[in-house]
Amino acid sequence: MIAIAIDGPAGAGKSTIARVAAKELGYLYVDTGALYRGVGLFVLEQGTEPSDEAGVASLLSGLKVDLAFREGEQRVLVNGEDVTARIRTPEVSMAASRASAIPAVREFLFHLQQDMAKTNNVVMDGRDIGTVVLPNAQVKIFLTASPEDRARRRYEELIQKGETVAYEAVLEDLKQRDYNDSHRAVAPLKPAPDSVLLDTTGNTLEQSIAQLLAVIRERLPKAVSPGKYRMSKLYKLLTIIGPAILHTFFRLKIEGKEKLPKEGGYILACNHISNFDPVLLAVAVVPRQVRYMAKEELFRGKLTGKFIRALGAFPVRRGAGDTGALNVGAEIVESGAVMGIFPEGTRSDDLKPMRAKSGIAVVASIAGADVYPAAIISKKEVGLFGKVRIIIGDRISKEEMAMTEQSHKEMKRVAGLIMNRITKLWERGYEEM
Ligand code: DC
Repeated sequence: MIAIAIDGPAGAGKSTIARVAAKELGYLYVDTGALYRGVGLFVLEQGTEPSDEAGVASLLSGLKVDLAFREGEQRVLVNGEDVTARIRTPEVSMAASRASAIPAVREFLFHLQQDMAKTNNVVMDGRDIGTVVLPNAQVKIFLTASPEDRARRRYEELIQKGETVAYEAVLEDLKQRDYNDSHRAVAPLKPAPDSVLLDTTGNTLEQSIAQLLAVIRERLPKAVSPGKYRMSKLYKLLTIIGPAILHTFFRLKIEGKEKLPKEGGYILACNHISNFDPVLLAVAVVPRQVRYMAKEELFRGKLTGKFIRALGAFPVRRGAGDTGALNVGAEIVESGAVMGIFPEGTRSDDLKPMRAKSGIAVVASIAGADVYPAAIISKKEVGLFGKVRIIIGDRISKEEMAMTEQSHKEMKRVAGLIMNRITKLWERGYEEM
């Protein structure tokens, strides 16, 4: 499943923007603020002070909050009653903000939110989605705007609803809620370290939506946008003419191609010696397509970015513990496609295999997938009319790669095991060359 986490302060336009983006992607939009509002409303109706920790906690056993979806629109049910329309008042906003600082309330709503993302592709918005609720979300966005901008939007919304409020009061309220939300002890509002910051100050709604979709599309390869993926014409053409050209111009020899499954997801892991590797290795997988995890920098170039995206690559931020990208990789494999990864994380200077980073172990473990090791071998710098050899090794089963615990040490061990197999293939190939 794909999860897109959108966090940010009140009034940044999260819900409007996220709702449209979800529709565009065909994902379920989950507004988690509505759950806290449901709790806030209930607490007010029971006559309890929303910041009374013990009082609120004792109410929770008599409370059931549910989300329902009608025609794609989220409804909030409090003890079976649809309260969707009643939770949008300033009183409930403030009550929700106060009650949401209570650990028991957050715990109470935690599983409901996580469960939504287990069975649906979601765009989920809130305050702690990327940090606490869905730390493995493939895409994390922190959406913000200046307090004045946000207050103006809220103010116009309320006026349109026919309420009589003063702009200054809305601004004060919003600043108070910002303070509450970002200074509470549990799950305070803050950007996840691997989130993308989007500032919508001064934007029109359309601009913000376009920005958000651009970030999402940049992070997700087309392969995991359901219903939208087809092998591109460019790629189809390449699968027909590419291999012959590459065999000729790189004097490419591939051994063990028949070992690769004709269908179903798997991970292809190869050592990395030149910029030509992804293209050469793709020949081993043709007519199927490999989706490579590639460093984010490559996507910045306008032309190269477009090109590698068309080839099915997706970006990873190196050295940042980019769990989102690892989860995109896992999703690709789970969806039955081939994911390519260079476990060393960078090219080797001397054409020899190096040590693997632990990312490969994480993807393999999340995806529960088989890995096929591949070695790419050249005696001198890869270039036209050089001689390149690729050897595909035997399947490394998920059982072999099973980790006894999710520790750094275990990840290193599994990554080492995979890299070892690649190195063995490489050594044999090098000698025979
Ligand atoms: O997004 P909203 O304004 O509808 O949220 C109402 C309150 O709920 C907000 O002030 C803080 C709280 N909230 C939270 O603590 N965590 C979330 N994931 C979502 C909302």
